[in-house]
Amino acid sequence: MRADKTFFDQEENEILRQVEDFHKILTHLKYEGKVSRGKNVKAANRAMSRLVGTFKKHRRLQEEIIFPFLQVHIPKHEAVIRFLRSDHEDIKKNKDRLRLSLQKLSKQSVTENGKIQELGVYLICLLRHHLELEKENIHKAIKRELREDEKKEIGVRIKKWLTINRSGKSLDLRFFQTHNEKECFHDRRSNRTAESKETQHENSI
Ligand SMILES: [Fe+2]
Repeated sequence: MRADKTFFDQEENEILRQVEDFHKILTHLKYEGKVSRGKNVKAANRAMSRLVGTFKKHRRLQEEIIFPFLQVHIPKHEAVIRFLRSDHEDIKKNKDRLRLSLQKLSKQSVTENGKIQELGVYLICLLRHHLELEKENIHKAIKRELREDEKKEIGVRIKKWLTINRSGKSLDLRFFQTHNEKECFHDRRSNRTAESKETQHENSI
């Protein structure tokens, strides 16, 4: 597999298609009233689960394979990669909030609808903006700045990752990353743990 435009286009199109589906269901939920609420809440939950699953795969593939590879082979993109990682966290937090609101709406039939619309539209904007940023930076960098052998190498790793991920087996990243890439991955994990501890500490005071 080549990590070329086609692979990223397909992945981006799939996420965007699911974002559009979700947007349509939110509109139904907004305008169709109480009579269709049960049906629309179920549809929103289903669409949300699909989108969450697809985005989770996207996030893990980037954070475990693509970002560490680029941080070593094209280090000048470090800042944008850091931003994209924090974007992933932001999207995850907003998705959790929206899920909670959808659960409240389905269980208690309370008027959470306005909040759901607000959270839903915000999440959709975040996702669209995130994908656009990746297209303009990461995808272009892979296409224009990696050497042919590097493109081939990242393509092989992506394919292997997707195959193992589909099989449901656990991934051992030692087989995917060189020493330097492992350092990038583990540095990031340690930072995240430290950030999380700091946040917990801040929340507790
Ligand atoms: Fe991403």
